[in-house]
Amino acid sequence: EWIVMHIRVLGSAAGGGFPQWNDNGENCKGLRAGNPNFKARNQSSITVSANGEDWILINASPDIRAQIESFPPLQPARKIRDTGISSIIITDSQIDHTTGLLILREHDKPWDIYCTKSVYEDMTTGYPIFNILGHFRGVNWHEVSTEQVPYTIPKADNIIFTAVPLKSEAPPYSPHRHNTVPGDNVGYKIEDTETGKNLFYAPGLGVIEDHVYEYLKNADVVLIDGTVWTNDEMARAGVNNKLASEMGHLDQSSKGGIIDTLTSLQKPRKILIHINNTNPILNEESEERKILNSNNIEVSYDGMDIII
Ligand code: MLT
Ligand code: MN
Repeated sequence: EWIVMHIRVLGSAAGGGFPQWNDNGENCKGLRAGNPNFKARNQSSITVSANGEDWILINASPDIRAQIESFPPLQPARKIRDTGISSIIITDSQIDHTTGLLILREHDKPWDIYCTKSVYEDMTTGYPIFNILGHFRGVNWHEVSTEQVPYTIPKADNIIFTAVPLKSEAPPYSPHRHNTVPGDNVGYKIEDTETGKNLFYAPGLGVIEDHVYEYLKNADVVLIDGTVWTNDEMARAGVNNKLASEMGHLDQSSKGGIIDTLTSLQKPRKILIHINNTNPILNEESEERKILNSNNIEVSYDGMDIII
């Protein structure tokens, strides 16, 4: 049976989600007031399958429980305790990408988890979720190379994964916080061996390095960092004093930013993910959103299906 590669967006928001529990900015207020220009969003996660049955979870958000319920293939109910998730890939050790692992502790065997050595270090020291899971069924860690070595995962062997090191920040609790190492943050080329088509996924993209640009250029679909419209957006909203660049996120609107980068690409379909709750593009009628529309840049949403 021929089934193409299917990517499902489980969570399209950045850390905090949309609305964020303690936020009362224009976006969160508008959403809570029922303004139809806004859609609620869970925290950053996607899942991919090329056989429709076994799903690779890429990042485990704190919202994973609701995300599984939102997508029936993740709960196929073949036996008393079951899951459609066969393995988990982690792109970095950020809270929004890893906390769901604790929620998944009831798994009946060790989770097969694919991440780099530096992420493994964070997850066993500064944010020791793997150690905690060791008191349940444990973690079967598969080390992911930072040398862009393509690999496959059992039950998904018609998908080739290539981790691509990105310049971004290690989280505040990481031992590499102030001296980032390759592997603190990776993006992924996700290629279907049947069609040869690929999606490039990078929810945290701080700098468009040359090697990253090559992946973007050659992708059929890019699904990348849509965190902020402007670099100082969070400070201007009065929520913190950090620049997005200090958190490893390239803004959309500046010269050389995400929009400039995407509009320079001929081949791929262009989609943003990991949208922060301060970003004006969350309002579907905003001027900023219209600029994206006119540049053929889509904004992913929870429940979006990308078929390649
Ligand atoms: C980030 O990507 O910078 C995170 O979303 C921040 C967080 O989760 O606190
Ligand atoms: Mn994040």
